[in-house]
Amino acid sequence: TEYQTILVERRGRVGIITLNRPKALNALNSELMNEVVGVVKEFDVDEAIGAIVITGSEKAFAAGADIKEMSTKTYAEVANQQFFGAWDELARTRTPIVAAVTGYALGGGCELAMLCDFIIAGDNAVFGQPEINLGVIPGIGGSQRLTRAVGKAKAMDMILTGRNMKVDEAERAGLVSRVFPKEEALAKAIEIAEVIASKSLIASALAKEAVNRAFESGLTEGVRAERGLFYSTFATDDQTEGMAAFVEKRDPNFTHR
Ligand code: HXC
Repeated sequence: TEYQTILVERRGRVGIITLNRPKALNALNSELMNEVVGVVKEFDVDEAIGAIVITGSEKAFAAGADIKEMSTKTYAEVANQQFFGAWDELARTRTPIVAAVTGYALGGGCELAMLCDFIIAGDNAVFGQPEINLGVIPGIGGSQRLTRAVGKAKAMDMILTGRNMKVDEAERAGLVSRVFPKEEALAKAIEIAEVIASKSLIASALAKEAVNRAFESGLTEGVRAERGLFYSTFATDDQTEGMAAFVEKRDPNFTHR
């Protein structure tokens, strides 16, 4: 398939999506959204893909929603067209998604990174929700996911002032899971995705769902959900195989069944 705004690659069991609008610092327009969401949905139902990496360029993961596309829109247009609503699809995927962020992850770019399951960052990464400077507010989940990721104090600070956060602060605050030199960040993210993709796909999907319950519900409800998901792993061949391999002191051969 030909894409206008992204590059798509399969490397073993890892699907890699590279945002590719270099002249606009990977600003997210509707076409890019539709291409990314479409490929993620294809990867998500493909048993040959066990993890997805979304990345940008060294200078910019994505510098936000495309301001030129948005600038002339009216309330009726954004509301009636559910402008940017399709991004919510990423939150419904089963396959783990790793964001590899170097350079700017601003506005919708920061929100896209947070829609992924976790963020691997280069040491030049910069995160921010500068929407307030444009007279708007985050619209792809930023006010919710940033607050859950870094807490109310930093989220309010960033969203109300529009200031950026460099990678050290982002790591201290828990927004990113690991930081690497910028030249290595993508390769490391792919290695990490390969590790994830080497596991049972069913177990990873259930593990992801369980962690997401912690994000989205109270403790008692989350623990109950986890227990049910845990029990269901005993219906899989991969549970039998994984435990047999341990007992027999060999590597497991997961079949994603
Ligand atoms: C459209 C953008 C863009 C964006 C950069 N460009 N960001 N185009 N939308 N969000 C374009 C510039 O217009 C320019 O193109 C080219 O990319 C290079 O950008 P420069 O500004 O020349 O680069 P630099 O001086 O290095 O500054 C980098 C930057 C700056 C600090 C990241 O570009 C910037 O502040 N961008 C906007 C960041 C932002 O406000 N993001 C939030 C958007 S609102 P030309 O053709 O002019 O040379 C948002 C809402 C989400 O995301 C919710 C939606 C529902």
